[in-house]
Order: sequence, then C-alpha cells, then structure tokens
Amino acid sequence: MAMLQCFLLHCILFISASAAKVQTKVTDNPADQLVAALNSNRTANKLSSLYSNPGLACLALQYIKAYQGACKEVGGPDGKKPAESEFAETFAPNCGVQASSLAQITGRFLACQSKYAEPSEAFNDVLIRNSKSLDILYSKNHTEVGAAVSGSDGGGPYFWCVLFSNGKQKSSFSTGGVEPKVSRPGCFSGSNDQCNGANTLSQTIHLWTIIIGASIALLYALGI
Ligand SMILES: *[C@@H]1O[C@H](CO)[C@@H](O)[C@H](O)[C@H]1NC(C)=O
Ligand SMILES: *[C@@H]1O[C@H](CO)[C@@H](O)[C@H](O)[C@H]1NC(C)=O
Repeated sequence: MAMLQCFLLHCILFISASAAKVQTKVTDNPADQLVAALNSNRTANKLSSLYSNPGLACLALQYIKAYQGACKEVGGPDGKKPAESEFAETFAPNCGVQASSLAQITGRFLACQSKYAEPSEAFNDVLIRNSKSLDILYSKNHTEVGAAVSGSDGGGPYFWCVLFSNGKQKSSFSTGGVEPKVSRPGCFSGSNDQCNGANTLSQTIHLWTIIIGASIALLYALGI
C-alpha cells in the first residue's frame, strides 16, 4: 500500500512538473530572452542596449535554415557560411524584408550543439566562448540586434544565431509595418511572438543527452 501511494505521488509530481513546463514554454520566446540576456550584459558594461529588430531577427532564422541542420558546417575546419548575396536574394524575400532596407551586418554569432540550452546558458556558455566573441558583443559599432533559435524537427541539433547591425531602428530591415513572415520551426526575437525553442520530443531527448553527456558544441563568431 505504501508503495502504491508512493507511486501515485510520483505520478502526480511528474504530471504537475510537465504541466508547469508546457505553461512556461508557450509563453516564452527563447530568442527574446537571448536578446534580453545580451542587452543586460552590455548595459552592465556601460554600453548601449541594442534595439531588438524583428526583421533582422527573421534574417537570423533564415541564416540558420541555410545550414539545413548540418551542425558540422558551423565553425571548425569544415566551416561554411552562407554567401553574403543570400541576404538580399533569399533571406530578405523569405521574411518579407524589403531589400532596399538591408543595412550592414556589423557582427554575428552562430553556434550549434546537440543539446538544447536555456537562453542564459546559451548566451554565456554556448555563444560567448573567447575574447573574440567578447569583442563582438561589446562593439560600439552595433545599434541593433536580432536573434534566432532553432531546433530541427524531432530534436537536435540546436542552432543559435545573433546578427548585429549598425542600421537605423526605424528604417532598416523593414517589413513595411507588418510582422515578418514566420517560418517554423524556430523562433526569432522582436516580433511579440510566443514560441518555444525545443519541442516536446526534443525535451525528452534533451534529458537523455544530459545524462549521456554526449554533446558536441561548435561555435563560429565573426566580426565583419
Ligand atoms: C557578460 O557576459 C560575459 C560572457 O558570458 C561574462 O563573462 C560576464 O560575467 C557577463 N557580465 C555580466 C555583468 O553579467
Ligand atoms: C567598428 O567599425 C570599424 C569601421 O568599420 C572597424 O574598423 C572596427 O574593427 C569595428 N570594431 C569592431 C569591434 O568590430
């Protein structure tokens, strides 16, 4: 009897824990939280808070999608990156961003790993790895930022992309007053969009990857 009660208690605890998780997931957007972590770090270092531009963030998600889930192509010896022309030819039209409003990209972070990371962890442990990434984070050249987080269907690998620009808030990466086009899966910042970075299946996989401890992290930071 005691065993049965104990079992039921576990069930109840498990169900309420899952419910709490679902609750926070639907109201959260990890890309917005990543921008918040980044801006609070900048302001703590007496630098300006960057404008969260939804058009730029939508381009960041397109940038991730260009890798088609190929984590190996992020950084390292086999590192690849999309051609600059992709911004105007593919990313902008996919987002509904007007090509004439594209501004200079003043820095970018891109990282990929097999396990999901919460936004503050992604910021501190996945994206910022060395002094070069700190130089990019603390550059005075940026005026605005856009972040995106994407998991591939059915789990990892997970990609994080942050694009910085020196464009003007009101006129750069403009979608002409409408919200940028949403293309799931994946989340981007600045659009008042409720979004979750990891789906239910991948949350389960996430636990197992922690237990197994098998995670490969790749990072690519560029100041341009
Ligand atoms: C800002 O971020 C860097 C890199 O993760 C970290 O080392 C530093 O402690 C952070 N500073 C503050 C004030 O949070
Ligand atoms: C800021 O922009 C200037 C001029 O384009 C460039 O020389 C410099 O390296 C940039 N600084 C950083 C930290 O990216």
